[in-house]
Amino acid sequence: MTSKTVTLTDNATGKVIELPVHQGSHGPDCIDIRTLYKELGYFTYDPGFMSTASCSSAVTFIDGDEGTLLYRGYPIEQLAEQSTYLEVCYLLLNGDLPSSDELHNFSRIIKEHSMMHEAVRGFYDGFRHDAHPMAIMVGVVGALSAFYHDATDVHNPVHRKIAAHRLISKMPTIAAWSYKYANGQPFMYPKNRLSYTGNFLAMMFGVPTSTYEPDPIFVRALDLILILHADHEQNASTSTVRLSGSSEANPFAAISAGIASLWGPLHGGANEKVVMMLEDIVHSGKTVEEFVGRAKDKDDSFRLMGFGHRVYKNYDPRAKIIREMTHKLLAEIGGGEHDPLFEVALKLEKIALEDDYFVERKLYPNVDFYSGIILRAMGIPLNMFTVIFALARTVGWISHWNEMMQDPESRIGRPRQLYIGSKTRNYIPIEDR
Ligand code: CMC
Repeated sequence: MTSKTVTLTDNATGKVIELPVHQGSHGPDCIDIRTLYKELGYFTYDPGFMSTASCSSAVTFIDGDEGTLLYRGYPIEQLAEQSTYLEVCYLLLNGDLPSSDELHNFSRIIKEHSMMHEAVRGFYDGFRHDAHPMAIMVGVVGALSAFYHDATDVHNPVHRKIAAHRLISKMPTIAAWSYKYANGQPFMYPKNRLSYTGNFLAMMFGVPTSTYEPDPIFVRALDLILILHADHEQNASTSTVRLSGSSEANPFAAISAGIASLWGPLHGGANEKVVMMLEDIVHSGKTVEEFVGRAKDKDDSFRLMGFGHRVYKNYDPRAKIIREMTHKLLAEIGGGEHDPLFEVALKLEKIALEDDYFVERKLYPNVDFYSGIILRAMGIPLNMFTVIFALARTVGWISHWNEMMQDPESRIGRPRQLYIGSKTRNYIPIEDR
């Protein structure tokens, strides 16, 4: 925080006020407008939060112009190369990298919580056989609040920590079971001898009749995907978790609200839509140029899925890492280098990046553009892509929720509005209308 201020003159009344300006460790300064309504009687108008910081946070920083992403100050490139998902979880939750003892202890705790109350299994039977796994995720994660409501005092830091551990730990089990349910296969229980990511793959692809050992190449690839999706500051789903949690709601219910928000195609649901779009291009017999033309046509609602971002006006650093990794993984699994979807994706990216429409609007590939190709190469079905995003993002959501719960400036979220409805009018009895 600084002593910098901004002076605001109301031209209508001549009243002048001074507003404090807060300075963060990185990023633009923020004008503190909390007293604006009291002083001048105005609200601010900012649909979609184009210029509004809804909170202060020390978790993640994005520089959208530079294409930089930091978790607790550490560049995503370094974490992707040198860390593991569980270590990143510790970092996001606690603020610093763990010592080896701390990491060992954290991993043990996460493993200990991976089983679910047996009654949770019953929830799955209530869903239609063809339910989208994200619908199941919203329901089952929300249902956890029925199991841990009385045991969760949101003002107690120890309770909050236990809720965080439970969520991170149970998410792979919940996610894998949503897949098993849709496929009519027996649910597999977690195996604590496996790594966090290996365990998830074993619960998804293992069956009771044979032994399944997760392929280390896939384990590393998926771990990297989880690291890259672990947090992304105040995006729609994180802001949803914060807003719903601001009423002191149960954290499992607040995370379920975040999952619902993530599912949308403009947010996490885009990874599924990207692969659908690429398949469409491959099978349509049309050229990539024709699809790019449609994306530019204002009379066509078609958009290039996996392109553009509210914050990044440069290449999304996560997309860069995933593109590199896709090359490697496809080569490692043999023959995959010639995956027609990957070839179309590379062509699409090249054409779009040279096209004036995309250049002028600074539309670059985002994290979802390549992640679907890699998940598909690992044999993960399309409708599980956003589930994997939700699994990874759980630590981000719960870290933000925890930060908000201990922030003395935090209050129940209550946006204002510009009312444009009818002025006051009198009720007319139905027989007189
Ligand atoms: N294809 C074609 N045109 C686009 C695209 C696109 N993918 N994205 C933005 N534009 C155009 C848009 O039509 C607008 O043009 P104009 O100024 O002429 O009206 C301009 O670019 C600005 O777009 P916007 O919709 O005002 O930007 P926004 O910040 O509100 O939306 C976005 C960001 C990510 C929702 C949007 O770029 C989009 O719909 N992208 C496709 C969906 C997608 O890939 N989502 C994943 C986002 S990253 C991961 C995550 O958040 O989970």
